[in-house]
Amino acid sequence: AGGVSLVKAGALTTCTHLPYAPFQAKDETGKVVGFDVELIDLVAKKLGVTQEIVDTPFEGIKSGSDLNAGKCDVAAAGMTITDERKQVLDFSDPYFDATQALAVLTGSSVKTLEELAGKRVGVQGGTTGEEYIKTQVEQKGLNIEVVSFRDLAAQQQALATNQVEAAVNDLPVWNEYIKNNPGKVVVAAGFDTGEQYGFAVKKGNAALLQAVNESLAAARSDGTYDRIYATWIGA
Ligand code: ARG
Repeated sequence: AGGVSLVKAGALTTCTHLPYAPFQAKDETGKVVGFDVELIDLVAKKLGVTQEIVDTPFEGIKSGSDLNAGKCDVAAAGMTITDERKQVLDFSDPYFDATQALAVLTGSSVKTLEELAGKRVGVQGGTTGEEYIKTQVEQKGLNIEVVSFRDLAAQQQALATNQVEAAVNDLPVWNEYIKNNPGKVVVAAGFDTGEQYGFAVKKGNAALLQAVNESLAAARSDGTYDRIYATWIGA
């Protein structure tokens, strides 16, 4: 497919870590759908193959080990581009801007991290949200117990069942949760971390990276990106 070699013939294999709605999650039928899924479908189409999604823990994605091991061609996981990750992955052009947000149960009076003194805050293991909170706790000398969960579903479940007083993750995933579970949680505070998401390929896979970037650029210029954004993120 245009000088691009793929780990599995006839497919563009994507590593992701489920669930991370609205970027990737299973629908009622078990099919993985979302913002990232649609953008990578465009890349697959450009290459004349179909996308196949592999669900794998975030650690193996962000460390580059899944890509290096040939588990997949591309990583698409609502993954923030960071300097540390750039050492082990080659990132596409940014495709989404995100910030961190603190979610609490509706009715909670908490509005700041300081008000969480003596309490537990849930984070998703290995994410930029976890790193942000750990840094804040350390820098401000806050007496907060940071509890890491293996995935977004476990983190959200812990918040919903009061095992943690608050939880930090990327703003769009809280917006999606609130949309699907009206009245349950609210965003108490936002932290403008200025994050940008990128798709990643194995270091040195320039041919695939170029295909991803060309596909993104085409989607941005022909309105497809805006349509996908409206579908999954909103106006
Ligand atoms: N944007 C955050 C990060 O890069 C969270 C990503 C989590 N993604 C996922 N599919 N579980 O660290």
